[in-house]
Amino acid sequence: MQYRRLGTSGLQLSALSFGAWVTFGKQVGRGEARELLALAHDRGVNFFDNAETYNNGVAEQVMGDVLADLRFPRDSYCVSSKVFFGAVDKPLPTQRGLSRKHVMEACTQALQRLRVDYLDLYFCHRPDPDTPIAETVMAMDTLVRQGKVLYWGTSEWPAEAIHEAHRIARENHLYAPVMEQPQYNLLHRERVEEEYAPLYAAYGMGTTIWSPLGSGLLSGKYNDGVPVDSRLAQPDYAWLRESVLGKGDERLRKVRALQPIADELGGSLAQLSIAWCLLNPHVSTVMLGASRREQLEQNLGALEVLPKLDATLAQRIRTIVEAA
Ligand SMILES: NC(=O)c1ccc[n+]([C@@H]2O[C@H](COP(=O)([O-])OP(=O)(O)OC[C@H]3O[C@@H](n4cnc5c(N)ncnc54)[C@H](OP(=O)(O)O)[C@@H]3O)[C@@H](O)[C@H]2O)c1
Repeated sequence: MQYRRLGTSGLQLSALSFGAWVTFGKQVGRGEARELLALAHDRGVNFFDNAETYNNGVAEQVMGDVLADLRFPRDSYCVSSKVFFGAVDKPLPTQRGLSRKHVMEACTQALQRLRVDYLDLYFCHRPDPDTPIAETVMAMDTLVRQGKVLYWGTSEWPAEAIHEAHRIARENHLYAPVMEQPQYNLLHRERVEEEYAPLYAAYGMGTTIWSPLGSGLLSGKYNDGVPVDSRLAQPDYAWLRESVLGKGDERLRKVRALQPIADELGGSLAQLSIAWCLLNPHVSTVMLGASRREQLEQNLGALEVLPKLDATLAQRIRTIVEAA
């Protein structure tokens, strides 16, 4: 495993980490979750990502039970949660968003479900137009001072709102956001590469990037249709299927065109796609998702492909994904 600093903070995260979205508590029960977390930890993965909204808190419960059962030393891994969407269907106004009330209560609930005393990373899962940014920054600062959160950050906030959070923190001597959690993959690059570019230099922010395979698209598994046991075939995720596959054939054409490069490298397309994310020095960790052991095994092998991705290959890849 390789380790990277989370921006300019002192925290070193494994270059590949592992998250629970869609899978834990839905496709993956406690037994499989145990196998996946054990494999990841054994290979040096030290960051496990979660959120209050993942299967309405069940993903956190599954992860918490399994981490307790595996008895990993608490100082050998980092665990996160995210607040915003709530942990129930149809949340009441006090059960969602980034008000001081919900941020504090959601943190308490995440600690209980994950069975830990503190969250290493805690994210504001989206911007909340109904809460002043200052209120959220102050709530996060309180959690850090209480020792319930070590590093706080944002997820998919516009750069402008992150600048504002930093301004408020600086002027009031409050803990500022340390990291962003944006989507980043070969087919989704603009925010990480352009919009956020000024943030890295100005504040030393790191990124924990999500959906490196675009929900599996960049493994090539959807090239010939939607396999029945795949994420995009899940009945509750029709919206995701539409968002990943509903944009015509252009994305699938690019995925198919990348396959020969993976073949040349002697790796899988998933490994190529994950390794490519790590070429970006502002990516602190690539958060993997997996519904079964073979996927996680394969995806962790991206680190073997990474040294083979030289400038010429990177340019060939860019030409394919940037083609109209
Ligand atoms: N902050 C946010 O808003 C946000 C949003 C999304 C995710 N996240 C975090 O980021 C983590 C990773 O995102 P993600 O799960 O979307 O990552 P991803 O790598 O884009 O997709 C993972 C899914 O792709 C399929 N897959 C993975 N490896 C494969 C392989 N080698 N061959 C074939 N299929 C493969 C599996 O689904 P199937 O087997 O079911 O097809 C797996 O669950 C999440 O778990 C979550 O912690 C955060």
